[in-house]
Amino acid sequence: MIDYKMKIAEIIAKAADMEAEEVCSMIEVPSDEKMGDFAFPCFKLAKVFRKAPPLIAQEIAEKISAEEMFEKVEPVNAYLNMFVSREEMTKDVVSEALAKGEKFAHSDIGAGKKVIVEYSSPNIAKPFHIGHLRSTVIGNSIYKIYDALGYDTVRINHLGDYGTQFGKMIVAYRKWGNEEDVRRDPIKTLLSYYTKFHVEAEKDPDLDQEARDTFARLEKGEPEEKALWQWFRDESLKEFTEVYDMLGIEFDSYAGESFYSDKMQRVLDELNEKGLMKESQGANVVDLEEYDLGTALITKSDGSTLYITRDIAAAIYRKETYDFYRNIYVVASQQNLHFAQWFKIVELLGYEWAKDCIHVPFGLVSLEEGTMSTREGRVVFLKDVLDQAVEKTREIIIEKNVNTDNIDETAAIVGIGAVIFQELSNGRIKDYVFKWDRVLNFDGETGPYVQYTHARAASVLRKAGEDAAKISADVDYTKIRGEVAYSLVKLLHAMPDVVIEAGERCEPSILTRHIIDIAQAFNKFYHDEQILVDDEAEKMAKLALVASARQAIENGLAMLGIKAPERM
Ligand code: ARG
Repeated sequence: MIDYKMKIAEIIAKAADMEAEEVCSMIEVPSDEKMGDFAFPCFKLAKVFRKAPPLIAQEIAEKISAEEMFEKVEPVNAYLNMFVSREEMTKDVVSEALAKGEKFAHSDIGAGKKVIVEYSSPNIAKPFHIGHLRSTVIGNSIYKIYDALGYDTVRINHLGDYGTQFGKMIVAYRKWGNEEDVRRDPIKTLLSYYTKFHVEAEKDPDLDQEARDTFARLEKGEPEEKALWQWFRDESLKEFTEVYDMLGIEFDSYAGESFYSDKMQRVLDELNEKGLMKESQGANVVDLEEYDLGTALITKSDGSTLYITRDIAAAIYRKETYDFYRNIYVVASQQNLHFAQWFKIVELLGYEWAKDCIHVPFGLVSLEEGTMSTREGRVVFLKDVLDQAVEKTREIIIEKNVNTDNIDETAAIVGIGAVIFQELSNGRIKDYVFKWDRVLNFDGETGPYVQYTHARAASVLRKAGEDAAKISADVDYTKIRGEVAYSLVKLLHAMPDVVIEAGERCEPSILTRHIIDIAQAFNKFYHDEQILVDDEAEKMAKLALVASARQAIENGLAMLGIKAPERM
């Protein structure tokens, strides 16, 4: 598509005898549409030209206003306000949307570059609660955005499947466990053993020693312990997979913490070689005080390694295996210090790619009733939340008499889409409160609203009957040059850049906001204009725009990990 900023920059650069690059960086998009599509502030030019900025704006306007791409150029005080040809922009975006279809708003800026997105990463035998939803959903969208930008992506689920707690879990299972119960409801059952272990260990401290010995046997790879651990892992993963299936989420690798258990010695050796490791009360630490990052504990006094050590080993492994261009971690902001510490350690080890490791933090979710936390035992399981979303949506569908021939399917698409959309519509850093009536509102800035808009566009195209097959970019664009249509055109035109920005900032909410804007602009167009009019040329031009908007919404939702229903 036309790069308007660049094209305008070249024209102004020629008229004002400047560098196009510099002009380009100065061009603005006015927030008020009445001030033009693009504006160029002339303040900075005053020194060089030794003239007042309004006069400069006046002179440049005279030189460039005859250019074909402009509808008009208006000098207003120190600004040069430019209105581009509506027909040209409309033709540009409609041709692109119709030609590219599902690839509209995609790009190839990432070609040949590998990006790892690590997300979800729950702990096995622990509940997959609504807090994990954020990592899962934000990470999945970041992956989809990078994929759309042409990057070669690798999705990793860094399962929390290692650590001394598995010694406790095995001891507890042997003492109080029952195979049948675990199979029936793995995570809740294993969790109950784990809780019981802590209660019992208060009374009988020997249990803790037993757990440590058991974990040591697991680390050595003793078959019995290994088999139990493997079983806990498999059962937990089965349960996680149910949630992933509901969300439509997949991974390329489930290499979790245990995968690095034999890759830790190298980290310890390198830390020693570089003289970074210090002994402290039998434990090994890296002192990061001079960077204001405290002290990182690398091995405990019994020699066992820690979470952070495994992260360092994993990063080295990923670099050597994938040779990433970027290595992204979508993990809660509570772990900011953890990531800052080990990124620093990797840098101190001399790995220049430390700068390519990126922590993408996010804030806490709480439910209306209050915060959810594993410790207080008031865990809200994600699966229950999703089931509830589908159920509540089914009720709304019936009550609203929504147009669907498959209630179950629509309830699933809309209910789950609503939860995902809600997660992605706030800036990720903010803490937020999960409220049902906000999530499922069909009229607010929500998933159902956008999906409904998509279905409405699809329905217009269905109603067009045979005309739908004749939709093409070769239409008379003067028929759709009104304000309302043009606002929609501008949003569609901006979408590819919005996707790039969302990717660069690892911030799907930028895209979510833009999709809401497109949906609102489309609905205004739909309400204000009759689409299936008698005038053939007008009808075909309007249908081309509807088809483009529908495609943009579908593609945008896809990048958030949400389906776009044909009917609703
Ligand atoms: N399993 C961890 C948790 O649930 C998250 C893992 C994050 N990823 C990482 N590479 N440290 O808190």
